[in-house]
Amino acid sequence: MPLSRRYCAVTLLFLAEFRLFRPEYYTKKRRGFPSLNGVNLQSMSHYLDHNATAPLLPEALEAMTLAAKEGWANPSSLHEPGRRSKQFIEDAREKLAALIQVDPSTLVFTGGGTEACNFALFGAVQALQTQHKGRHLIISAIEHPAIKSGAKSLEEQGWQITWIKPNSDGVIETESVEKALRQDTVLCSVMAANNEVGTVQPIHEIGTLLREKGVLFFCDMTQALGKLPVDLSKTPVDLAAFVAHKIGGPKGVGALYIRKGIRLESLLRGGGQERGLRGGTENVPGIAGYGAAAEWWQQHGDEERRRVESLRDQLQSELQKKIPEIKINAANVSRLPNTLHATFPGCRSDVLVMALDLRSISASAGSACASGSVKPSEVLLAMGRSSEEAMSSSRFSLGFGNTAEEIPAIVEALAQVCQQAKG
Ligand SMILES: Cc1ncc(COP(=O)(O)O)c(C=O)c1O
Repeated sequence: MPLSRRYCAVTLLFLAEFRLFRPEYYTKKRRGFPSLNGVNLQSMSHYLDHNATAPLLPEALEAMTLAAKEGWANPSSLHEPGRRSKQFIEDAREKLAALIQVDPSTLVFTGGGTEACNFALFGAVQALQTQHKGRHLIISAIEHPAIKSGAKSLEEQGWQITWIKPNSDGVIETESVEKALRQDTVLCSVMAANNEVGTVQPIHEIGTLLREKGVLFFCDMTQALGKLPVDLSKTPVDLAAFVAHKIGGPKGVGALYIRKGIRLESLLRGGGQERGLRGGTENVPGIAGYGAAAEWWQQHGDEERRRVESLRDQLQSELQKKIPEIKINAANVSRLPNTLHATFPGCRSDVLVMALDLRSISASAGSACASGSVKPSEVLLAMGRSSEEAMSSSRFSLGFGNTAEEIPAIVEALAQVCQQAKG
């Protein structure tokens, strides 16, 4: 095992062990979160990693439990238990469709956000191939790996790709898309909001331009939904990917919006489920949980966005007072209301995140540890930051688990950790 991978594994094991012996980890209660066998499911003392995943909403858990009990039959079966299972799926489709203002028949449930992104990209490309319109794609350089790695494999298969970089604030400018357009451009992919720095992209402007030019527009909206109001009836996108666990639904469930009239090849061929676009017996409880989470955002979204934004702003201003050298990334452009991305000069993000974890604060380094090596964030490098700056930047993403009362403790811990890292 390479040294860096062993280092990550040992550290994670140590952190897991350490937490097991902290009684407050189990006892601290959070507003409105479910408990299981007496353990509060939102008991991570200060959870600031909602862009990685949000805790499961109690409403989603309840809907999943009901669907697991009563929607156990195969939704494709014609009998009554089968029809009951199918009803859980259709109810959820209606709830998600209402949240994003589309006709329910334009939504296909998938096995997560990555599948929805892969379906959009490969499904569109395979369908376009047969139309012989061209083999040029425009992909933003700050897309999630769910798109970037798929696009790289298309490049290896002979598709030509123009990768467009963001400006130094992390925004993909419409002019960059315009400059990249060619006669043979068939598809463009720009996400609605970036998962790391939180920048909101000008998708209305980009979509309008692409529609004028007859180029298909795929938009990854997995981070935008919930954190921003999404109304696809007024947004010129052709394909849009969503995922349940970023809005308090379960993991492994997503959806792809396919505008009426757009043709996609299916990736999973099977028994004709999801109008033949996504084969395989559906994950009924997961989909029901997604529907319940979508309904929650429909009812509470405006209030929750305002609440979380004010917490994020409080965290930002208190950090700026306590750590004057901090640099807030994307501070002057439109950002997700829950996301604070900052560079702490001289303080490595992996060290910072682990030290915070020992204080029961869960944040995210802007670098990838999953592959076993700690690398600088590609998003920050694309924004023109140096490798050193990228390695000392961290993301704090807030959500329904957070309250104003916890901000002073987080700020104090961060100031101490930064001081120690430098000293
Ligand atoms: C912007 C974005 N797109 C796609 C995904 C993929 O979602 P999943 O890992 O749930 O399949 C994520 C998840 O982190 C994301 O943040």
